[in-house]
Amino acid sequence: TRGPLVLGIESSCDETGIGIVRGTTLLANEVASSMDLHVRFGGVVPEIASRAHLEAMLPSLRRACDTAGVKLTDVDAIAVTVGPGLAGALMVGVAAAKALSVALDKPLYGVNHLAAHVAVDILDHGPLPEPTMGLLVSGGHTNLLYVPDIATDVRSLGNTIDDACGEAFDKVARVLGLPYPGGPNIDKAAQGGDSKAIAFPRGLSTKKDLEKHRYDFSFSGLKTSVTRWVATREAAGEPVPVADVAASFQEAVVDIITKKAVMACRDYECNNLMVGGGVSANSRLRALLEERCGKAGIAIRVPKLSLCTDNGAMVATLGAHLVAKGIEPSALDVPADSSMPI
Ligand code: KG4
Ligand code: ZN
Repeated sequence: TRGPLVLGIESSCDETGIGIVRGTTLLANEVASSMDLHVRFGGVVPEIASRAHLEAMLPSLRRACDTAGVKLTDVDAIAVTVGPGLAGALMVGVAAAKALSVALDKPLYGVNHLAAHVAVDILDHGPLPEPTMGLLVSGGHTNLLYVPDIATDVRSLGNTIDDACGEAFDKVARVLGLPYPGGPNIDKAAQGGDSKAIAFPRGLSTKKDLEKHRYDFSFSGLKTSVTRWVATREAAGEPVPVADVAASFQEAVVDIITKKAVMACRDYECNNLMVGGGVSANSRLRALLEERCGKAGIAIRVPKLSLCTDNGAMVATLGAHLVAKGIEPSALDVPADSSMPI
């Protein structure tokens, strides 16, 4: 195959990712996660994540080169996530990428993590239609991105104003006594439940909400509502119908996500929806997306799960695309930017 050989480095949160692509062909995708180290703290600890990146970086780099059957000196360009993410974590990847760029005398491309999540689908389903609507749903993001051109024009339409949707799945799972990670376990528990059993609230969905937060999301009210509902039951000494609560909660989340995604596509006359992030694995989200996008004439693209979660291949893919489009590389002093806008 042809195209530039690009190395991608991802270190924005708790995954150290090294990806290698040749053009639009994936050669290696090494991911080392420090998630186990954070579990007992109930969330990602920035300092621990940074140290774990430092320890995983070079071994991962070596493994990726071995898997791809390439030498570092063969690489045509280096791409790295410069933001958004945890400042210290980002800095480890950015420093590594800069060192490689200098040592190999190859161009450096600093890329946006969210844009890379969208770009990765090129590996699975070919060139992105223009425009594409990106829906990113994970433990860290809930975003709607309007993408007229993945190389030069990626616009943020909406974001969560509190918890990410995956976070809501994980927190509600804990309330229901389901093991970590909560998302897949709620998905499973919900299969035997009635999604109409309990009417949980849909965040930011009233007419007034839609004026100010048309494409934004909110899940903390929903989480509180589920917690209260369960506590009331327990206080009354009644059994908690776990399957029904799981199904009703899940329905509230995916109902609002799919509604807003379709609304954004309609508003922007965009007939292509790309879905990324770990929550894209949710079976009810997939079913409802198919139903509602089908009705609206919107085509859906979801990359395979290993490309949906944080990884280096997505960074390499966007980097290779920028090289192919003749985009100028970044300056060697490009900073890590934890609150990078899109
Ligand atoms: O992208 P990802 O692997 O990493 C982070 O964002 O950190 O996403 C992980 C999130 C977790 O919150 C997990 O509970 C959720 O994705 N998740 C799911 C499902 N599979 C994973 N949520 C709902 N249903 C699923 N089947
Ligand atoms: Zn991510």
